[in-house]
Amino acid sequence: MKRKLLIIVLSMFYPAVQLFAQQQIAIETDRLQWLLQVNEKGKLYQSYLGEKLLTPAEVKAGRHEAFVGAGMNDLFEPAIRVTHKDGNPSLDLVFASVQTKKEDANTSTTIITLKDPQYAIEVKLFITAYSRENIFSSYTEIIHNEKGTVTLHNYASAMLHFDAPHYWLTQFHGDWAEEMKMQETELTSGIKILDSKLGSRAHMYQPPFFFLSLNQPAGENNGEVLAGTLAWSGNFRFAFEVDEQNSLRMIAGMNNYAADYPLAAGKPFVTPAFIFTYSNTGKGTASRSFHSWAGKYGVMDADSSRMVLLNNWESTGFDFNEQKLTALFADTRKLGADLFLLDDGWFANKYPRNSDHAGLGDWEENKAKLPHGIGHLVKEATANQVKFGIWLEPEMVNPKSKLYEDHPDWVLKLPNREENYFRNQLVLDLVNPAVQDFVYDIVDKLLTKNPGIAYIKWDCNRMMTNAWSPYLKDQQSSLSIAYTQSLYKILQKLRVKYPHLPMMLCSGGGGRVDYGALRYFTEFWPSDNTDGLERVFMQWGYSYFFPSFTISSHVTSWGKQSLKFRTDVAMMGRLGYDIDVNKFTEEEWHFSQEAIKNYNRLKNVISHGEMYRLISPYEEQRAVLMYVNNSKTKAVLFAYNLHTHYGEQFQKVRLSGLDPQKRYKVKEINLEKEAQATEYSGDYLMKVGLSVSSNKELSSKVLEIQSL
Ligand code: DGJ
Repeated sequence: MKRKLLIIVLSMFYPAVQLFAQQQIAIETDRLQWLLQVNEKGKLYQSYLGEKLLTPAEVKAGRHEAFVGAGMNDLFEPAIRVTHKDGNPSLDLVFASVQTKKEDANTSTTIITLKDPQYAIEVKLFITAYSRENIFSSYTEIIHNEKGTVTLHNYASAMLHFDAPHYWLTQFHGDWAEEMKMQETELTSGIKILDSKLGSRAHMYQPPFFFLSLNQPAGENNGEVLAGTLAWSGNFRFAFEVDEQNSLRMIAGMNNYAADYPLAAGKPFVTPAFIFTYSNTGKGTASRSFHSWAGKYGVMDADSSRMVLLNNWESTGFDFNEQKLTALFADTRKLGADLFLLDDGWFANKYPRNSDHAGLGDWEENKAKLPHGIGHLVKEATANQVKFGIWLEPEMVNPKSKLYEDHPDWVLKLPNREENYFRNQLVLDLVNPAVQDFVYDIVDKLLTKNPGIAYIKWDCNRMMTNAWSPYLKDQQSSLSIAYTQSLYKILQKLRVKYPHLPMMLCSGGGGRVDYGALRYFTEFWPSDNTDGLERVFMQWGYSYFFPSFTISSHVTSWGKQSLKFRTDVAMMGRLGYDIDVNKFTEEEWHFSQEAIKNYNRLKNVISHGEMYRLISPYEEQRAVLMYVNNSKTKAVLFAYNLHTHYGEQFQKVRLSGLDPQKRYKVKEINLEKEAQATEYSGDYLMKVGLSVSSNKELSSKVLEIQSL
């Protein structure tokens, strides 16, 4: 009787958690449901995860403990493993309480507290449900009150269980200039791990996101699939273990490799969020969920309009001066772009930054190149009616720098070992508060002195090797976690003072792309490889998890495709330029100016519309995708021919996401001469479709679709 009353009272106050007889906990979005159940012994089980059930009370506790502590009687991969102060290496997690906080009309967080009956340690699971976006975000907090230090060996953000005949894992691996290569493989018995151990950046070989398809590989519009990512810019680890009964457990969190964490009493240890969605209508639905979530919750200032910029890295490299830059401001204006971005090479005097061998860390203007300083450049840019942005790489140092000479103890390097360089540089010991202040001050001083700076590109060109923090002394195993926490601390402090400054997240191309950092950044640099053909695949890959307004895409001179092809590819992301515009012909100037006008007219749809991937470059020798605005009145379609086999004629493509009742005007844009529009019903476009691909090799088409 009493329990029934408690359930009724809790349900009144905590609408997102429904407690049923058998202590069922239901965490729900508009479409999805994650059911957990406490059994009679107080153990927490995952009983269901998928599309909402009509009568969840029918579900009985499953056989999968929701968050397994190591050392008891479960012999598979644990979610958490600790050694207590007295040396006991086990953790028995028993349900203690559940509560739900309503964050806003759309969002609620369920907090499940688990306790060890014998030890003063508590594990809290925080699960936020974003209703309309159908996204769950899950992280863990570990706190203890033992008399001394508890060592954390494993500390997952989430553990999920599945029962299906087959499991297919899609991962994205790569290297510099080869980011986001999609691979899919069936999971077999045992453990498959996707992880990174690079420390200062999330990945070089493997970014922190994946798809897990149940039964069979999920398609774009069919199949059951979980899409997940860790909001963390440091080492991550996703483990997928198929057991002897063909059940799968997925464990996501920071990488615990060489990272035992000594946890002092009373100090909460908080893991990053594992963000995921589930769909039984394929990867397209999952991506759209991620996009709409990112547009509201996942990315800084998601709804502010992104600027078209002209960057100088590809055209000048380190070789520029005031005159060259001022001329480029005029070019930025002529092009119709909003901002000029000054890249690497503008700083350092004792060891001038004329190549990547020297100067990194000495953040004063190089007097030979910029005798009148950054302030003068901002003024000149403003006089040319364009904004000014600047490149920084504040976490790093060249040994050939004043910074290194003054503070040899500020770098990560092993005692008794040779320094190990990558791009001739070392990583600063960000864990040291004095270094944190230094990094904060680099940005703060620059912005205080030059309030006109309107954009920052924050680069990070190396991973950690031979890493040892002089500051951490005998606590080296917490370095990888402490580094990323320190980075976030600096970024957080900067965001308090500069809440809306647009910032690009860059890491020697796309070495750091994740939702942990995107809380502080407005967009990311996907790759230094801007070859139009390669970018079709890369941007396609990123589109699975990130909305187009975060994917910086520049027209450059990489790649042998036409300017039109490269422009059409860049336009499906956040359009920008990094090309020697002085080599443009009159026609190319005109084409580019018109393309920017087109982009500006359509960027709201491209940035925030629903994205439909229609033909995958992994399945055909072409790629077709489109964006549709919420009211289905405006859409943009991009089609790229990648290769034409002899005699090949491409089939018509059926469009998606339009209103069948509406009539639409379809007009090709980004052409030298204005094209005629043709009218179709939405019904026709979605059932019969259009011929959108010419069989001319490496040709492309952009269609503007407007309802009448
Ligand atoms: C790596 C980045 O990815 C490039 O875009 C450029 O900013 C260079 N660093 C500059 O050193």
